[in-house]
Formats: sequence, structure tokens, C-alpha cells
Amino acid sequence: MKSVINTIYESKLAELKDKIETLSTPVQLTIVTVGEDPASKVYVRNKIRLFDELGLECHHIVLAEEGTSQSDLDMLAEKAEHPILFQLPLPSGLIAPDLPAAVDVDGFGSEALGHLVLGQNAVLPCTVQATIDIITAHCGEYNFPGLKVAVVGRSNIVGKPLAIELINRQSTVASFNSRSDLVAVDWNKYDVIVVATGAHGILDNSQFIEGQLIIDVGINRVDGKLVGDIKHHDGIFSEAAITPVPGGVGRLTCLHVLGNVIKLADCSR
Ligand code: GUN
Repeated sequence: MKSVINTIYESKLAELKDKIETLSTPVQLTIVTVGEDPASKVYVRNKIRLFDELGLECHHIVLAEEGTSQSDLDMLAEKAEHPILFQLPLPSGLIAPDLPAAVDVDGFGSEALGHLVLGQNAVLPCTVQATIDIITAHCGEYNFPGLKVAVVGRSNIVGKPLAIELINRQSTVASFNSRSDLVAVDWNKYDVIVVATGAHGILDNSQFIEGQLIIDVGINRVDGKLVGDIKHHDGIFSEAAITPVPGGVGRLTCLHVLGNVIKLADCSR
């Protein structure tokens, strides 16, 4: 699976570099972080590094948890003229402003999500695009119609938008969440299972069979180690193709942050 992810990474990066060459508008991104979430620090560092490597502008606004109010965030959103994102999670009591689609890099705002639901060339959340990339590489670009996909997780940033994008592609989609009776599910009937709950061990590698593609979107820290949502039992080898954590979906999401910034720059011409 690692080599598939590397191949996708290299070809997407080359595609994006070519696109940058064709743009007349400058590519620039503003990232807003509030507080000291350790995982966010790593994600933001990776995004800034990619922009730096390509000589693109990336501004990082760092706000302290103490003293930052919702109106400070809303003000930044109102003033935004270029692509911007508010790194999640925000400290409790703060929510990401509902950005207009023209500057919404994450595609988390109601306007972008409206475009997605209506199938109108939306800016898709980066993790959704990374998941679609992996399904495309494994199952084939033209095989989404009729593909049987289980989406486990109903977050606004992965599970829900992914299910909608798959419906737009005419896949057959089943949606599960932490209140579903997961023990009773016959997982073998799905071609692809995407697990995005943020709960390590919600499913395990013994439940999947040869021929299935399992995409583990979770990133959890257990005993100091980064692990996904799927538990890999010692001594149990699964014949299914299971994306690794780290080095799976997460490796591709940064590229889509850049891809979305390019898309927004392109639309603003
Ligand atoms: N935190 C974890 N993933 C994401 C993401 O895709 N976008 C933002 N803004 N925050 C995140």
C-alpha cells in the first residue's frame, strides 16, 4: 500500500506544479491556529513546508488560547481576501467561522458544502480528496458507479462529505457511526471500507478479506505511537489492502490543501 500512496503523491505533486505554472494569480494561503494542540502543530508544519518548498506564500497567524475570542476569528474571516483555513480542533468555546466558498480552502463552510450536495464543482475537503485518490488508484477511475462503499464515521470534515461525494459518483454508500451496531455488520459485502471515527480499535484487521480496500483515516496516539482507527492484531495477517497510519491518507492531504488553494486562485481570475 505504501508504494501506491507514494505513486499517487508523486503524480499529484507533478500535476500541481504544472498547474502553478499556468496561473496568473499568486498562490497564497493563510493558516490560523489557536492554542497549542500538538497534532495541529505537526499538520500545520507539513503544510507550511510544502508551500515553502514550492516557493509559495503561506502566512501563519498564531493566536494564544487565552484572550482569543470568537469575534477575533470572525473578524479574520470577514477580512479574508485570499484562501484561508482555521486549523481544527479549536479550543472549546470557539468554532471555525463559516467561510464564503471563494476563500474556503477546507471546503468546510456551508456554501462549499452546498455546492458539494448539489454536485456543483465544489472545493472538496482535503481528506475526502485523498480518500478518493486512493480508491481511484486501487479500483480504477471509471469504477465508482456501483462500487459498494461503507463509510464509518459521520464527521462534518470527513464522513459526511465523503459519503456525499461518493453518492455524486454513483457509488452505493452505506453510512455507519459510533452508535451503529458494527458487530452485526457483514463487512464482506463491501468493496471499500473507509474508517474515520477517531476511535482506535473500532474495527480490526481480522474483519476484512482479500480483494477489499480498507482506508484508515484515523490518526490516534496510543502509548506514544501514531495509529489509525483499525487495530492490527499481532500474528493476524489480513489479505485486504489496508492503508497504513502514518504514511497513508495523511500523506496526501497536504497536497490537496495546495490543490484547493490553486483551484480558488484559478476561480478568482
Ligand atoms: N484538522 C485535522 N484535519 C484538518 C483539516 O483538513 N483542516 C483543518 N482546518 N483542520 C484539520
